[in-house]
Amino acid sequence: MTFQNELIQWYRVNKRDLPWRHTNDAYTIWLSEVILQQTRVEQGLPYFNRFLENFPTVADFAGATEARVLKLWQGLGYYSRGRNMHATAQTVLKDYGGIFPNLHDELIKLKGIGEYTAAAISSFSSGEARAVVDGNVFRVLSRFFGLATPINSPAGKKEFYALANNLLYKEDPALYNQAIMEFGAMQCKPKSPNCGICPLRQDCYAFNHGQVNALPVKIRKAEQKHRYINYFICLEGEQVLVRERQAGDVWQHLYDFPSIETPEKYEWSNSLFIDQVKSVFGDHAEFSLISAKKHILTHQIIHLQFFALKNYIFNFNKQKQLNWVSLIKLDDLPQPKVIHDFVQEYFYQGKME
Ligand code: ADE
Repeated sequence: MTFQNELIQWYRVNKRDLPWRHTNDAYTIWLSEVILQQTRVEQGLPYFNRFLENFPTVADFAGATEARVLKLWQGLGYYSRGRNMHATAQTVLKDYGGIFPNLHDELIKLKGIGEYTAAAISSFSSGEARAVVDGNVFRVLSRFFGLATPINSPAGKKEFYALANNLLYKEDPALYNQAIMEFGAMQCKPKSPNCGICPLRQDCYAFNHGQVNALPVKIRKAEQKHRYINYFICLEGEQVLVRERQAGDVWQHLYDFPSIETPEKYEWSNSLFIDQVKSVFGDHAEFSLISAKKHILTHQIIHLQFFALKNYIFNFNKQKQLNWVSLIKLDDLPQPKVIHDFVQEYFYQGKME
């Protein structure tokens, strides 16, 4: 059997029953593919269902406020995906009469849709012959064909895309694309793949040369950077002071609290830290530690400390993004996951659900 037929055969027997596999509607497939970028299926599935329920059509999505979109996105991370989806829904409504494009060359023009996503949507919705190349596909091809060019180098991308498009099963690109991705996700896994029961192992380069754990090759990227952010919680009765993050920020239009970033971790008693707090919040400011958390991202590890702040003064003219919000409304605001976790613990513990 050929490589392609083996994969399809395996897929027919082993595939997971996932909702976006029962449709060729480009809008629905777009929802699933963008949600699943950098997200595991188990984590993305409830978000997919919620988005489809809230926005059954692209017009519903386009008509929502950005705050509602970000609230639904809360917890998935990489919020630019949610903002780009909102912009794309509006473009599709305006420029395509609300009919989601299903061809690669149109899709690739839309915000948040790159090579992978354009190939996935076009092949799954219109059967266009475009090979998908995601992390799963890189791994399967690298191991089976023994390709050691780094997958995150320009030369690697070129080589793997060319091979993937050569291998594409032209009679049914959608079926083949699903099959190779699923095979990578379920069988040819990054760590401890189950080669003992693999239908491709006889011709697999990595299996036959003891290279399964060495392939694919990736160039190491820069070390993760550590950041130290100290949040200050100002409570007046049932009102808390929140900040809306501004344009150009990864957390743009999400809400958190006033903060001070420091070059390293400062204890509350550190005199440098006390001076910095007083220079921002006034000489009489007093603060005490409530909680500390760590938030790990692809390129950053963010160390957070939350302090209760008293006797502060703010220059509200200079800090337009600050607003008082009642505790009842706080939970309605879109927040970064780590802030949402803190809010739940500190303000709502025992009161929610
Ligand atoms: N990850 C990205 N796209 C996927 C799909 N269509 N099915 C399963 N996992 C995926």
